[in-house]
Amino acid sequence: MLRFGIIGCGLMGREFASAAARWMHLLKMPVRPEIIAVCDANSSLMNWFTDHFSSVIQTSTDYKALLENPEIDAIYCAVPHNLHAQLYVDIINAGKHLLGEKPFGIDQSANTQILKAIAANPNVTVRCSSEFPFFPAAQKIIQYAQSGKFGRIIEVEAGFWHSSDLDPNKPINWKRMIAVNGEYGVMGDLGFHVVHTPARVGWIPKDVRAVLSNIVTERPDGKGNMVPCETWDNAHLLTSVALEDSRFGHYEFPMTLSMKRIAPGEANTWFIRVIGSELSAEFSTKHPKTLRTLPYTAGQPQAWHEQDIGFETVYPTITGSIFEFGFTDAIQQMWAAFCDEVAGNTPRFQCGTPTEAALSHALFTAALESQRSGSVAKLEPASMGGA
Ligand SMILES: NC(=O)c1ccc[n+]([C@@H]2O[C@H](COP(=O)([O-])OP(=O)(O)OC[C@H]3O[C@@H](n4cnc5c(N)ncnc54)[C@H](O)[C@@H]3O)[C@@H](O)[C@H]2O)c1
Repeated sequence: MLRFGIIGCGLMGREFASAAARWMHLLKMPVRPEIIAVCDANSSLMNWFTDHFSSVIQTSTDYKALLENPEIDAIYCAVPHNLHAQLYVDIINAGKHLLGEKPFGIDQSANTQILKAIAANPNVTVRCSSEFPFFPAAQKIIQYAQSGKFGRIIEVEAGFWHSSDLDPNKPINWKRMIAVNGEYGVMGDLGFHVVHTPARVGWIPKDVRAVLSNIVTERPDGKGNMVPCETWDNAHLLTSVALEDSRFGHYEFPMTLSMKRIAPGEANTWFIRVIGSELSAEFSTKHPKTLRTLPYTAGQPQAWHEQDIGFETVYPTITGSIFEFGFTDAIQQMWAAFCDEVAGNTPRFQCGTPTEAALSHALFTAALESQRSGSVAKLEPASMGGA
């Protein structure tokens, strides 16, 4: 049993609690999370947890109370970005394992502070939340990449698109404020989800040409006024990736990454499309069970195939293999991987790592520079603080 505290009882805090409540869904898990403490600055949000979980015996509006509780093994922290550095560093220094939400610091200097705390506490497991790679079809694409099935990569496109900000009457919230969300704008909000899977298979951008758009520049504040809406709504990043390949030698390919708050019609569309000389493949959460592939042999026809991928999960479950997989399943699979690793096992698929989060910061920082200068910006990796 792993005893958890949750800091931040908003949208994502509840998702973890719900995944933990149906842990029996997973088969043969060596470990089970139990939520024993919750913290939110808004005390009314903790009632949902105490109503539904008799295991919750500590509630506090001060996160430090959870860090002082010796019964707590691990923390899930899902708070606004301006708080990541302080809270994550304090959690890690308190010796609690941490699944932290992206972007893992409001900017690169905040991310560097978190990396230093990780380096100083090597016995603490720290991972960054990223659930989309756990979709079964996304796992297939990751496996193809790791086993070299694509041949020579010609190009990669990945993105994460939302649409609710198309509505100019949608009131502003913290994700639209630079002081709370960060100067990255949509990249801080959605970007790690886009960068994580390419990074996991070794597709690391070396430079970026960014076009960032602030489309809706003011919004209602919910009190009858219009206020500035400062953040970048959409980000188009054209990057170059260099590979050293045993079959193809040194070569480069373009990788286009997009994050959009304003993509009309898209509810929560995460996708990846890989075009290769021997295989192409694509998956989008818009069609959550469909994997599209185009295998190619020289001189043979070129035809896309569609395959329904059922409930073929990283961690086995009670669900029949022909049924459909969804967002809450991906969240639970991610939690299974985190708990498995904290319990001392090698996870079947590792959650987002601090190194991958640091890479996303290097990319987003370079993208801001590219937007400012109107030129190609090289990536400067963050210091791991001596690690
Ligand atoms: N993995 C995902 O799919 C996903 C989806 C949405 C958001 N997120 C991330 O989760 C984090 C939280 O986002 P959210 O959408 O849940 O936001 P939210 O606004 O719904 O929840 C954040 C909560 O933090 C609380 N809070 C603020 N200051 C606090 C403090 N000092 N101590 C304790 N609690 C405090 C707020 O009261 C609020 O309830 C962000 O990092 C965001 O990027 C991840």
